[in-house]
Amino acid sequence: MSTRRLCIILFLVISAARANAQSTNLIRPGEQWLDNRGELIQAHGGGILHLKDEWFWFGEDRTRTNDPAKRYVACYSSKDLIHWHYHRQVVALADPENLGTGWVFERPKVFYNPHTKKFVMYVHLDSPGYKLARVATLTSDTVDGTYTYVRSFRPLNQESRDIGQFVDDDGTPYLIFESRPTHGFFIASLSPDYLDVAKQVSFIEAPLEGGAVMHINGLYYVLGSHLSGWRPNPNVYATATSLAGPWSTMRDIAPPEANTYDSQSSMLIKVKGRKTTSVIYVGDRWQPKQLWDSRYIWMPLEIRDTTLLLPKPQPWTIDTHTGETTIP
Ligand code: GAL
Repeated sequence: MSTRRLCIILFLVISAARANAQSTNLIRPGEQWLDNRGELIQAHGGGILHLKDEWFWFGEDRTRTNDPAKRYVACYSSKDLIHWHYHRQVVALADPENLGTGWVFERPKVFYNPHTKKFVMYVHLDSPGYKLARVATLTSDTVDGTYTYVRSFRPLNQESRDIGQFVDDDGTPYLIFESRPTHGFFIASLSPDYLDVAKQVSFIEAPLEGGAVMHINGLYYVLGSHLSGWRPNPNVYATATSLAGPWSTMRDIAPPEANTYDSQSSMLIKVKGRKTTSVIYVGDRWQPKQLWDSRYIWMPLEIRDTTLLLPKPQPWTIDTHTGETTIP
């Protein structure tokens, strides 16, 4: 083989290796997202818990081979938010309240209580047809231990369907829950043991679900989706200088015709790095006929003054040390 040919082959091999290395450091919204085992990440309608330098992702595990009578929550961890290590199914629960076939256990969110040193999971528990409208709590001594069922209740005695979680910069935890009869949703603080809500902090008069809250640059943002079941709709947000409000009018997070790029809000992740702070939109692109293959839309949000913009999904990367995000 001539030296020239050898050089060309070497160049091609190195370029391919580089491209491959780069591609493995990308988050690819809407594509299949595999864990360290090469399996689809099962963390739908999920929540993120940030502990020291690790992120734990909990969500509905809709694996096809799951026992259809049970409901499952899977737990993953990551240090870079890109590569996720599967831990285990931390919940594999049989119908805890005799709700019947088709009972609902959705949108799990885990809080860590530094006082009791317990991990507390909130979840939307419902009867078939979504009539019960409660939250359920489960606890564990370790982040990826088996979460033990505690009880179910209606927070603030209100109907509660989709839930969200928010931990403010001072560590105060809040539950966000949609309450249909009130045509709006609540933000409530948690009791000292985190096993109940303590008090209503805000009521946002807008019939929205998939509620998520973020606090950045002295401003609170609340984000939610309209009530269209698994079908996507144009998600909207409002701002306030205090969590208690008053909240601004709702604005579109993306061009409305894009239907939030076929996704529904689930949470907002704040990544505070050495150089900057980024906020990631986390949405679910549901596939109701094959929920196990529902996809995730993660994109860094563009934040300017008081506006939020969800850019068109495309591959991107993040450096959790600096907080910087890049769209190559
Ligand atoms: C959505 C909700 C999902 C799931 C679905 C069922 O509105 O956000 O979590 O409950 O409805 O139709």
